[in-house]
Amino acid sequence: MFMYPIFITDDPDASVEIGSLPGQRRWGINKLEGFIGPLVSKGLESVILFGVPLSCPKDARGTLADDQNGPVILAIKKLRSLFPSLYIACDVCLCEYTDHGHCGVLHEDGTINTPPSVERIAEVAVSYAKAGAHCVAPSDMMDGRIKSIKRGLMDAGMGNKCLLMSYSAKFSSSLYGPFRDAAGSAPSFGDRKCYQLPPAARGLARRAIQRDAGEGADIIMVKPAMPYLDIISDAAELTPDHPIACYQVSGEFAMIHAGARAGVYDLKAMAFESTEGLVRAGATLILTYFTPDFLDWLS
Ligand code: PBG
Ligand code: ZN
Repeated sequence: MFMYPIFITDDPDASVEIGSLPGQRRWGINKLEGFIGPLVSKGLESVILFGVPLSCPKDARGTLADDQNGPVILAIKKLRSLFPSLYIACDVCLCEYTDHGHCGVLHEDGTINTPPSVERIAEVAVSYAKAGAHCVAPSDMMDGRIKSIKRGLMDAGMGNKCLLMSYSAKFSSSLYGPFRDAAGSAPSFGDRKCYQLPPAARGLARRAIQRDAGEGADIIMVKPAMPYLDIISDAAELTPDHPIACYQVSGEFAMIHAGARAGVYDLKAMAFESTEGLVRAGATLILTYFTPDFLDWLS
């Protein structure tokens, strides 16, 4: 049930600790074998890739996102050839690649311009699918992107080859801080409140889940996880024929570590309690930075 989020950067030999995410690193493509190999031996079945371009200039439309020599596309190909049994998902978003750090393409006045955003995001998703990704997972929250990605995959002949996991109910959360450090994706101005859901918006979340299922999503995701257990359970009820994923995000992981360091609880016990709660709520797939720990704990 675990999918492991990993950060791939453009220095091929990188292995750089991420201060706010205990035990997690930014990896270069030459280090993937040594990093992932032992985890696959312990039973790792799936990963989700995040690209972190550090040396190339970013632009307004996120050109680097599907650069054929960029870290994500190189990593897909490398991981597929090194570990044929490993399931490879790719996060699809523009914020790691745009100079303004927002998840879409902007109007002159800095607001999101939805049609070109959706078009660009679908293009990136199809590029990842063509490179060999088993699953594409758009995290941008632009209206209409699921339909447009599904159409793009079908038109490219990949409709039945690449699965579409939607970050359907993605809330505007304080828990993404360590991730934005790790990925260099903090917005340079404003925030993401126009496209991510307000924390209290249960109705909007339910509508987004149903809309994405109707537009062709194959997996429905709720994110973050722990403060949104009711939404996970809503998703399980609203779309009972879809796998329900949830993302125990960077801030939840960092918070569980920080609590353990402060003597509030035992780390392992709390990691189990938090994920068991997600399963109880209805999750059938959990994206978590604890995945390598669980491979040890559950062996
Ligand atoms: C980017 C993206 C974010 C996360 C996954 N994809 C951050 C954001 O929306 O700012 C968060 C993951 C985490 O915190 O672990 N669209
Ligand atoms: Zn984004």
